[in-house]
Amino acid sequence: MKFFVDTADTAEIKSLAASGLLDGVTTNPSLIAKSGRKILEVVAEICGIVEGPVSAEVAATDYEGMMREAAVLKRIASNVTVKLPLTPDGIRACKTLTGEGVMTNVTLCFSPAQAILAAKAGATFISPFVGRLDDVGQDGLGLIADILEIYANYPSFTTEVLAASVRHPIHLIECAKLGAHVATLPPNVLRMLYNHPLTDAGLKGFLADWAKTGQTIA
Ligand code: G3P
Repeated sequence: MKFFVDTADTAEIKSLAASGLLDGVTTNPSLIAKSGRKILEVVAEICGIVEGPVSAEVAATDYEGMMREAAVLKRIASNVTVKLPLTPDGIRACKTLTGEGVMTNVTLCFSPAQAILAAKAGATFISPFVGRLDDVGQDGLGLIADILEIYANYPSFTTEVLAASVRHPIHLIECAKLGAHVATLPPNVLRMLYNHPLTDAGLKGFLADWAKTGQTIA
């Protein structure tokens, strides 16, 4: 399973990339706004930190505008993935960009039918939003399961399921059990994966006993 981090905070990305476990980054217009930085500058910096796919989202809502913005975004670096909304124009742009060999991430997916459209358009990634479906009383993880089941019926579909809007480690664990190819995690959720109180207590005990031995490993 690939781990992406869902942020435009470059200090966080640098810190998390040091683990060697970070496979990519996703951003969206809200995360760029939160960073307070210019999109081209911040995406370029992220692409210099992480070798894997870095999603940068278009803001245009019409096909021609999306294609113009995609041309600017893809020039930033070879690992830029153009993120497109799941609309008729977004799917059309996805199909064209796929034909040009550009990586794409189709976002704001809330139904299996939408995920089928993205796969038919050759999207590199489809981003179903788990947490936002849960927020409105629907089954976010059920959507991941449905998409994976459908995609498995069609070996010609190469689109990877990128679980987005992941809010806590249980979401991540359940997505992994279902076989989602990628999860994009907010930095705090990625850090939470390391934590268990028994790990902390066990380490404290080991270190206390080790100190009593007076040994060093050298
Ligand atoms: O980047 C898309 C997605 O991960 C957003 O998550 O928490 O704003 O629903 P959230």
